[in-house]
Amino acid sequence: MRDASTQLLAKKYRVTSWFYDILDYPWERQYRHWRPLLLNNVEGEVLEAGVGTGRNLRYYSSTAHVTGVDLSSEMLAIAKKRARQARCSVTLMPQDALHLRDLPSAHFDWYIATFLYCVLPDELQPRALEEMIRVLKPGGRFKLLEIVYSKDETLRRRQEFLALLVEKLYGARFDRHTLEYLREKNSIEILSTRFLKADTYLLIEGRKKF
Ligand SMILES: C[S@@+](CC[C@H](N)C(=O)[O-])C[C@H]1O[C@@H](n2cnc3c(N)ncnc32)[C@H](O)[C@@H]1O
Repeated sequence: MRDASTQLLAKKYRVTSWFYDILDYPWERQYRHWRPLLLNNVEGEVLEAGVGTGRNLRYYSSTAHVTGVDLSSEMLAIAKKRARQARCSVTLMPQDALHLRDLPSAHFDWYIATFLYCVLPDELQPRALEEMIRVLKPGGRFKLLEIVYSKDETLRRRQEFLALLVEKLYGARFDRHTLEYLREKNSIEILSTRFLKADTYLLIEGRKKF
């Protein structure tokens, strides 16, 4: 049984999927430079949570087998077309990141999520992270790319101006606390945190402890 907020997100993306790629185009113009850099060392069994329309798929190496999951079947339908451009093998399945019911424990070498945690409500994040930890092998790695509020006043004002629209369309917010929730988990270590642009696009890398 899904949470009410998860059901709302699924409903939102049923509509947003119609125009997601067009809407996201101005941002995708910069993301497409980051995605290959983000994924170039990712190999083996990979779980991509919140795979969306499959924007990352073409950048995985041929040594990866990617399982892409998403709440929205409509987003997955677009990802399925994009999977044809991938060098890696791809399996796509509708699955809630909070409850990866069809995925075995300790199976994945990598867990990748780009712009998923800024969409997941704060109260659900610890559960999604628990699932990430469950499905990762001991020593398995993760990368989370998220967008957060800037400390720069001008930039923050711009983000605040867009916040309502961004939440309405994507369910995304700039004030999630993903890094704090990760720090509370004893079974993982955070290897690095860095911004890809200004102090807004935060890349968190880590590992499940042995
Ligand atoms: C902002 S989009 C990002 C898509 C993609 N990762 C990218 O980089 O372009 C967020 C995606 O997360 C999915 N999503 C939201 N909540 C989810 C959940 N609980 N489980 C799985 N996917 C979820 C949405 O359906 C949507 O496709």
